[in-house]
Amino acid sequence: MLKEQLSVFEQHTTPFYAYDLGLLRQTLDLARAEASKYGYHVHYALKANANAPILAEVLERGFGADCVSGNEVRRALEAGFGPEQVVFAGVGKSDAEINFALQSNIFCFNCESVQELEVIQELAATQGKTAQVALRINPNVDAYTHKYITTGLEENKFGINVWELEGLVLRFAEWPNLRLIGLHFHIGSQITDLRAFENLCVRVNEIQRWFEDRGLVFPHLNVGGGLGVDYRAPEENPIADFAAYFKIFDLLLEKRPGQQVHFELGRALVAPSGNLISKVLYLKHGQKTNFVILDAGMTELMRPALYQAYHKIENLSSDLPEKTYDVVGPICESTDCFAKGYILPETKRGDLVAIRTAGAYGEVMVSEYNLRDKVKAIYLS
Ligand code: LLP
Repeated sequence: MLKEQLSVFEQHTTPFYAYDLGLLRQTLDLARAEASKYGYHVHYALKANANAPILAEVLERGFGADCVSGNEVRRALEAGFGPEQVVFAGVGKSDAEINFALQSNIFCFNCESVQELEVIQELAATQGKTAQVALRINPNVDAYTHKYITTGLEENKFGINVWELEGLVLRFAEWPNLRLIGLHFHIGSQITDLRAFENLCVRVNEIQRWFEDRGLVFPHLNVGGGLGVDYRAPEENPIADFAAYFKIFDLLLEKRPGQQVHFELGRALVAPSGNLISKVLYLKHGQKTNFVILDAGMTELMRPALYQAYHKIENLSSDLPEKTYDVVGPICESTDCFAKGYILPETKRGDLVAIRTAGAYGEVMVSEYNLRDKVKAIYLS
């Protein structure tokens, strides 16, 4: 119960992120235990949250690092991940980022276009290195999630389309500095309908067979991340169903002998353990609406404004009878709204409010708009 932490929260200046490291450890331990039943290797997607204390817990449990920028690669290495634990994905890797990753001898580049492969070949040749690469393939599988966080459909910018593969495999003969070690897929995020992963397995099997027919079997298969969390019931259901998730792949994915299967999870590992704590600045009574105006806004947590995302809101200071509110932030934008028509106990100026399940894609997406101060973080062990 977050209310029990009220006296701790009251000692800090709002707004701030509060991370529950106990819950984080529990989540990571469970994910690791379930993955290890099948010998799966999990890379943590730093884009979800790259704070040092969180990376330390991830690292301690032997997860790898999934990075999507040169700075994420740098952050992972600084946090203590070995270069052999780092994969680097992303549709738009710059030459400088590729050079840095090559110098750092990372494990693998997940490549998203033919031109990117040409560039990595050229830069690797200049450095006298061999780069390990995997092809990120767009499997055209629907993730049944919000359209802004779907990535595996042909209309999305991600991955190499299957019709390009025939020509592409022949090109590897011209690329002596690239070693093709695997295939990579990622269909989207906040996936709660697990049938999407079943469909992914079917497609991966077809694509693997296509390569096999051309004499290519890969030692690595990376099926991405995307497992969703329950934003509606953070107390009752704080940890994603890792058991059901990994079981799907065990049942359906046709693994080749000796092949290592990789996952890239972000949200499911860190979302539940983070909460954004904010203070009520003002109450304002509109014509039809009561507004609760918080000192945190879309600059601290962008998800509601960007994806109409739901985050549960709790008033930690009040036990009064309930009323209905629009909960908004202080930013000069009408989309700066956390929830409309939301039921809370009667709320007063100075109350502390928790915006739940904000550990993933919260602090990392902070913006300085309106010249806001950078939000702080505290860690509860
Ligand atoms: N691998 C790749 C290639 C990805 O693009 C992503 C997320 C992941 C792994 C990790 O996915 P996860 O397990 O966290 O679902 N800002 C959005 C989410 C964007 C996800 C981007 N890619 C949000 O707040 O919902």
